[in-house]
Amino acid sequence: MAKLWGGRFEQSTDEFAEGFQSSIGFDSRMYREDIMGSIAHAKMLGAQRIIPIEDAEQIVEGLKSILEDIDAGRVEFSVHDEDIHMNVERLLTERIGDTGKKLHTGRSRNDQVATDFRLYMKRMADETIGKLTQLCGTLVDIAEENTDTIMTAYTHLQKAQPTTLGHYMMAYFEMFYRDIQRFVDCKKRTDVLPLGAGALCATTYPIDREMAARELGMSGITRNSLDAVSDRDFAIEYLSASSVCMMHLSRLCEEIILFSTNEYGTLRLSDAYSTGSSIMPQKKNPDMAELIRGKTGRVYGDLMTLLTVMKGLPLAYNKDMQEDKECTFDAADTLKACLEVMNGMLKTAEWNKERLRAGAGLGFTNATDAADYFVKNGMAFRDAHAVVGHLVLYCEQHGKAIDELSLDEIRQFAPDAREDIYEAISLETCVNMRSVPGGPAPDMVREHIRQAKMLLGDL
Ligand code: ARG
Repeated sequence: MAKLWGGRFEQSTDEFAEGFQSSIGFDSRMYREDIMGSIAHAKMLGAQRIIPIEDAEQIVEGLKSILEDIDAGRVEFSVHDEDIHMNVERLLTERIGDTGKKLHTGRSRNDQVATDFRLYMKRMADETIGKLTQLCGTLVDIAEENTDTIMTAYTHLQKAQPTTLGHYMMAYFEMFYRDIQRFVDCKKRTDVLPLGAGALCATTYPIDREMAARELGMSGITRNSLDAVSDRDFAIEYLSASSVCMMHLSRLCEEIILFSTNEYGTLRLSDAYSTGSSIMPQKKNPDMAELIRGKTGRVYGDLMTLLTVMKGLPLAYNKDMQEDKECTFDAADTLKACLEVMNGMLKTAEWNKERLRAGAGLGFTNATDAADYFVKNGMAFRDAHAVVGHLVLYCEQHGKAIDELSLDEIRQFAPDAREDIYEAISLETCVNMRSVPGGPAPDMVREHIRQAKMLLGDL
């Protein structure tokens, strides 16, 4: 079978080299985008009388029937035709005869592949945003049930101050909501049409690029043909947004893994999201969370792959750029799967409220509030800090929490302490008094949840 570009060749491609340079193995997943792009192009060629209208119609019908057959799994692609673009074109000509050969008028695979890839990544961005929105919804649900569930907040992984599970969940909501915004933003720059750029210097045919863009539901057209066929920033942006999002997932995973240890014991993963050990009968491992944490490295690698592929390329298209797809598709598949698993894992996990509360009572998480108590009674903060430091040391030596000391014991360090100190340093007070915007006080978190629901509703 002759190559679609075979005219000037005397020898056929080496068999191994043919497989080596073919991309059908991974770009066939863009078949829908390729066919939609070709349909838009054919309609435009017809409307502009670049080819007869009847030919355009015949091409469109042929392409639609190919789409149906691929959807139904009735088509086998061939390595001989290199990529999805030439596979579809070959099928078209086999189906409708010589008219099929007119489809590629005024077009190159260079603007074709850029178009297909953009359309595909636009879909990926939408799907990713959808999964992120679900995850954000789950975080908000858990937060809403737990605006009063007191837990420890850490710095340096050392107990720091009390907060609530609601406040903690909403911290992750913020991260994932920013991720959504990053994908929304990246989608805007992805959503422009390169078709019409031709191989690199556009075309002499009187094409109507705006019409093709409208047909494809794209928001505009690229402004420079050399850039249009060379630009893969949109994929790099998707990969960087994915990397940031995986970093957030990975941090949450790390905490899920910690919290579900026997030592913390504050989170119990559902059996549906845990696995056992082949030798240790008692084991229930947080494999899903570990795997998401591990896959974060893989997605970072995907970003590095494409950045490195692109870094020394002269304008315009170079075959190096065929290496843009596997890493980008891998990142999209990985991220979407991780978001799905994280959502299910969180929805089904059980938080041990008693243990969360008990843990917050240990490790002097109310020490800042004790210092603030003395400040409110007229002491300078630095002096109050020192007084409470001495109190904590005394507590450690006597195996007690600050609020377990008698007033006499406290007065050894701070003579003006009164009975109301116990109320002032209770965990509830510590949380409730932090009622500044962004703080853990239940009213503040409820307000945050209200805003979050509106933000999600607006997506
Ligand atoms: N399979 C190619 C890719 O993915 C399509 C573009 C090929 N263009 C070319 N002039 N060889 O990049």
